[in-house]
Amino acid sequence: MSQIHFVGAGQMAEAIIRAALSRKAVSARDITLADIDPERITRLRERYQLSSTHSEIDALAAADYIVIGVRPQDDIDGVARHIGQYASPQATIISIIAGVTLERLATLFGATRPIVRMIPNTLTDTGYGYSGVVFNQQVEAEPLMPFLESFGKVMLLEERLIDAFTGFAVAGINYVYYFIESLADAGVLSGLSRPQATKVVWENLVGGVEMLKISDKHPRQLMDINNSPAGVGINGLYELNNSDFAAGLQRSVMTAVRRTTELSGH
Ligand SMILES: NC(=O)c1ccc[n+]([C@@H]2O[C@H](COP(=O)([O-])OP(=O)(O)OC[C@H]3O[C@@H](n4cnc5c(N)ncnc54)[C@H](OP(=O)(O)O)[C@@H]3O)[C@@H](O)[C@H]2O)c1
Repeated sequence: MSQIHFVGAGQMAEAIIRAALSRKAVSARDITLADIDPERITRLRERYQLSSTHSEIDALAAADYIVIGVRPQDDIDGVARHIGQYASPQATIISIIAGVTLERLATLFGATRPIVRMIPNTLTDTGYGYSGVVFNQQVEAEPLMPFLESFGKVMLLEERLIDAFTGFAVAGINYVYYFIESLADAGVLSGLSRPQATKVVWENLVGGVEMLKISDKHPRQLMDINNSPAGVGINGLYELNNSDFAAGLQRSVMTAVRRTTELSGH
């Protein structure tokens, strides 16, 4: 198995480690960590029984994949200089830093080095949800995929779509949580208990996705099945059509996309 070294052992790095271990995409002895905070390393080593005995520099030198999990405002130049000094030239850099482009990563880590830019989502423990992934030309995808796919499905993207992907897909789970909460509230308003309403919403959500998958139909076609003339369904939809539901949702996504671009400083 490949050696994977994490630089920046924060929340996202931990989520990736937890998912990769639980799906057996990596073994605990092949994961090493570096972080400004030594206690954080100790805590994660204990929590996930990471058993490598490498020193930080040996771990960096032995790594096949180096995951950069620091924040955009951290000393990325310093991180890159340190990696450049000790890592093998063949080691693949996997950057999860929001807003840092492949071009900048190539300047930092070298134009001939394999580099992956990716935006993971926060559903890492579930096996659902897409990470947005961009490879440079040097990346050999096949051996890397089991690791990348262990903490989310992989959607290969053109880099120009990364901001759109972040605002729409990575922030997207927020809209789903919000929708679930709002619909469960509606159930309570109608007279069901909170647990009853929540169960119904979860089931309808999963069932709706399953129906779309097995029927291969557009959502509007499935709505038609549910709407008899002058019936309950079409009356409910009439009210929803009169609301700001669709446009409000779409404005929210566009605002999140714009904010991603603002933060990236493009
Ligand atoms: N959270 C998300 O939903 C999400 C989704 C997609 C992408 N991302 C990206 O993932 C990255 C990490 O996010 P996060 O939420 O995991 O942040 P985080 O919990 O703050 O983790 C960053 C870690 O890196 C450490 N660090 C800072 N500078 C360092 C250096 N020079 N060398 C080694 N370690 C250093 C930090 O230590 P200190 O705290 O002591 O400074 C911290 O432990 C960010 O770039 C973010 O844009 C996050």
